[in-house]
Amino acid sequence: APLQRLVLAVDGPSGSGKSSVSRRVARVLGLGVLDTGAMYRAVTCAALDRGLDLADADAVAALARAAQLEQSLDPERESVVIDGTDVTTAIREPRVSAAVSAVATNLAVREELVARQRAVAASGGVVIEGRDITTVVAPDAPVRILLTADEGARVARRARELHGTADAQALAATQDLVVLRDARDSTVAAFTTAAEGVVEIDTSALGFDEVVQAVLDVVVARVPEA
Ligand code: DC
Repeated sequence: APLQRLVLAVDGPSGSGKSSVSRRVARVLGLGVLDTGAMYRAVTCAALDRGLDLADADAVAALARAAQLEQSLDPERESVVIDGTDVTTAIREPRVSAAVSAVATNLAVREELVARQRAVAASGGVVIEGRDITTVVAPDAPVRILLTADEGARVARRARELHGTADAQALAATQDLVVLRDARDSTVAAFTTAAEGVVEIDTSALGFDEVVQAVLDVVVARVPEA
């Protein structure tokens, strides 16, 4: 059936809520979910653990090409294993978040990971989320969505994630992180404006359930069988 082979491409900046929204949408539709940011994070983890110089583009690219990456697509079970090491928790550590841009801007690493992501897209039945999914990984996906949010909304979401609150102190502590992240990430892929045929959903004023519903509405509009 078409729905079981469906590919949903979801892009957005950090703090747009794309990971949790993609996971929920996958659960509702009975699809898998591929967090492509986790792949860049896993390679970063492995490179740090091996003491590689992340500026050594060739060494990091060689690691990425040789890496055995096992990632659960089950929206109920997050699991990332690289070369036999479970990095599901480690990939979220601040040391990895701080270093991952150096890996994500390595074009040879991108080439390798994009190829692996395209293979997942070719099998279908999956929500794929990241920064370049609607444009590079799955530009032919029947449903392509860009989740955006203004800076204030993204800072507040990250503050709640990191500090459990969005009070003035938490916002101040989070502001620079988000702005810096944006500046670094924007060198990698053009994900701030929607490409031709991509539906943009501004999530700034929406709650989680409303964003999920907005995505499901796009699916219904684009895929008559859904
Ligand atoms: O979404 P995230 O924070 O887990 O992403 C981690 C890093 O990887 C971030 O620097 C953006 C980058 N990334 C990318 O360049 N392309 C993707 N498809 C996904 C993530």
